[in-house]
Amino acid sequence: MDRIELKRAGFLKGEITPPPDKSISHRAVLFSSLAKGASRIKNFLAAEDPLSTMKAMKMLGVDFVLPPALHSRVEKPHPLIASDSPCEASFDLIVHGHGLAGLKEPPDVIDCGNSGTTIRLISGILSGNPFFSVLTGDDSLKQRPMARVINPLKEMGARISARDNDRYPPIAIRGGGLKAINYVMPMASAQVKSSLVLAALYADGTTTISEPQRSRDHTERMLKAMGADIAVDGLSLRVNGGRASAGGYDLSPVDITVPGDFSSAAFFITAALIIPDSEITIRNVGMNPTRTGLLDALKLMGAVVEIRDLHEVSGEPVADIYCRGKADLKGIDIGGDMVPSMIDEFPILCIAAASAEGTTNIRGAAELRVKESDRIKAMASELRKMGVEVEEYPDGISIQGAKQLKGAVVESYGDHRIAMSLAVAAMAADGQTTINGASAVDISFPGFFDILDRLGQQAA
Ligand code: S3P
Repeated sequence: MDRIELKRAGFLKGEITPPPDKSISHRAVLFSSLAKGASRIKNFLAAEDPLSTMKAMKMLGVDFVLPPALHSRVEKPHPLIASDSPCEASFDLIVHGHGLAGLKEPPDVIDCGNSGTTIRLISGILSGNPFFSVLTGDDSLKQRPMARVINPLKEMGARISARDNDRYPPIAIRGGGLKAINYVMPMASAQVKSSLVLAALYADGTTTISEPQRSRDHTERMLKAMGADIAVDGLSLRVNGGRASAGGYDLSPVDITVPGDFSSAAFFITAALIIPDSEITIRNVGMNPTRTGLLDALKLMGAVVEIRDLHEVSGEPVADIYCRGKADLKGIDIGGDMVPSMIDEFPILCIAAASAEGTTNIRGAAELRVKESDRIKAMASELRKMGVEVEEYPDGISIQGAKQLKGAVVESYGDHRIAMSLAVAAMAADGQTTINGASAVDISFPGFFDILDRLGQQAA
């Protein structure tokens, strides 16, 4: 199914449980692979990106216990669907880690698929390990900037080389013998921060890392719960190395239940808000404040969103989100410190902006140009096809709210979040929309179109 045809929905009604959080699923497998002993992960995301992380850790000698039906399928590139899971895109597993020093040299090149989180976080781990490894990925990943992790990891003492002057995958690493550094990150990036924290666990001494704005903090929360010597002070982090010659430590295994992914819920939140008379409840959504900036933006636009039953699960806030459709969202200005907490939600925010009255200006978001696709360019060109007036900037976009979106033939650029954002636009657009490259949704949200279909009531 690489092309899908969608028609306008009258309204969306019902309840959904989004798939498990992608960022937390990656981290749960990576960190428990480094712990000494058995960790239990419940509600792991069975989508292509976190499966790339699992396959990589398997090549590095980590043992997984999976439900019997999934055993043989971990080798395959396509999603695992567990029929007995609460969400069709999830499963439970046990990870047997052998400690920080327990990884083995991989027998072959590690393929990280489409996943920036996999390649950047594993680069940090491999920098701490005294063996040779090579990381690569698909055509999109091979165009994504890696100097942002390679340069500081080299400063810590790892021997790394990569394509095009050490800028792009494949990346070859010979790790070990790391020293602590003080590093000031040039951009807010949880992937860079996490890569350096992981390398710092292997370094001799205390590493400090500071970021210009706060990016998602799942790494800090989870590693602390596993006994890592890590302290957060404002925008700075301090990590004491676990492999220090004297007084080293190992991470403790944990039991983690992964919450629903706010970034996946975002498509349904926005769909409900821009299609009048819609009313949906989204259950079990991760509400970490470093992730939920979209809610602040939508509220500024005049949206009605209620957070219900806020509680904590495995060190992360979780709640149900109730939203009701409203025809009169207003354009707003977005930039500055708000950007990192909604970095993955800009494509869907562009759809809310296209349906709102007035202009929405997004600035300070140049990072969007180096995601799974150039998301500024992709959204500008596909929204124009749907009748929206758009202006592109190096670090953002201005969108004139259209009175009515028009159905069109649009492209996902192989980017899961572009495909899902355009699907939401299609639900609000007149006529028929064809999305080419629709199967990209499997990167983070297998079953997305089935849920959209179930919630959508046909327009009269
Ligand atoms: C992620 C961090 C973000 C985000 C990506 C997932 C993570 O990337 O866009 O989808 O899991 O750490 P950056 O850290 O590069 O901003």
